[in-house]
Amino acid sequence: MEKMKIVATARQVPERVVTNDELTDLMDTSDEWIYPRTGIHNRHVVTDENTSDLATSVAEKLLAESGWSANDLDFIIVSTMSPDALSPHTAAIVQGNIEATNAFAFDVNAACSGFVYGLSVASAFLSSGRYQKGMFIGAEVLSKLVDWQDRTVSVLFGDGAGGVLLEKTEEQKGLLAEELQAYGDSGEAILTGRFANKNAFVGEISPLDPYFHQDGRGVYSFATREVPKVLNKALEKAGLTADDVDLYLAHQANHRIIESMAKNFGQPMEKFPTNMVEYGNTSAASTAILLDELQKTGKIKPGMTVAFVGFGGGLAIGAQIWQF
Ligand code: ACO
Repeated sequence: MEKMKIVATARQVPERVVTNDELTDLMDTSDEWIYPRTGIHNRHVVTDENTSDLATSVAEKLLAESGWSANDLDFIIVSTMSPDALSPHTAAIVQGNIEATNAFAFDVNAACSGFVYGLSVASAFLSSGRYQKGMFIGAEVLSKLVDWQDRTVSVLFGDGAGGVLLEKTEEQKGLLAEELQAYGDSGEAILTGRFANKNAFVGEISPLDPYFHQDGRGVYSFATREVPKVLNKALEKAGLTADDVDLYLAHQANHRIIESMAKNFGQPMEKFPTNMVEYGNTSAASTAILLDELQKTGKIKPGMTVAFVGFGGGLAIGAQIWQF
């Protein structure tokens, strides 16, 4: 199997910051309720951009940082659960915007596991030997999927995008092992953007429900119970123990879920960097944004072993172990 490496990272978050205090003007909530339960103080929300705009900014930054030309790209993959439209898909819009004429492009939707699942697909294309250079972006505008009157959901989410460039390499680095799991029988725990049948032959047409709903407590106990099992399997496949991992980049849904994960693995919280305090839960974008922040501040060093952990809608979980 060919090896691949991450050549560049980038992120783009909307400028508009909405604080917990500002939310109190919209709904019956408070910073005292939100912060201790979630670790979230702020979220960034779009004012006039859509998902493809955030993703295109990430794509442009990735090219600028790497010095690659858009024509170098063999493929562009975007993970999102909040595309501009079902068609055209977001990756195709990005491909058109940056004029990556040699690249094919498609979206992956694995909700909050989207970063790990999309990266898995991108890595597989490169390690197959069929392609040399790829772009992978996680991008979300979740603010269009939440009911801003619903305090149980709207306080949790934010908008943003992050991505990576990947290239085949002879160096001994890249994806060491992964474990991906689906739990479709529990899918009702996180519901968003339902399309009801409404053709001319349907008896009763159900109303469209675009909004995000979740069984918060159910998702919390699912994540704290199942995520460590999946991460353990990925570690076993890599022939590593939890101590061997330098940094764990987990999906930024909730600080308490991440604290529970660190405790479960007997690891210090310093190995589990977080940024949900500033961005909230940005689903497929959350780990990508965090990765770029850590790269840009020099916290990820060559030779480090890094675990990516995603969990959420589907339900689905994914864990990968990478050598940087
Ligand atoms: N402000 C004030 N009060 C609130 C708010 C709010 N924003 N939201 C809910 N409440 C109230 C509820 O109405 C309830 O009141 P009641 O007791 O009078 O009925 C009370 O607070 C407790 O509500 P719970 O939902 O039981 O609160 P909980 O302690 O479970 O915290 C939370 C909720 C933060 C959502 C937690 O369950 C959680 O983090 N779950 C995990 C969610 C998650 O990680 N999802 C990620 C997947 S998303 C994806 O895949 C795209």
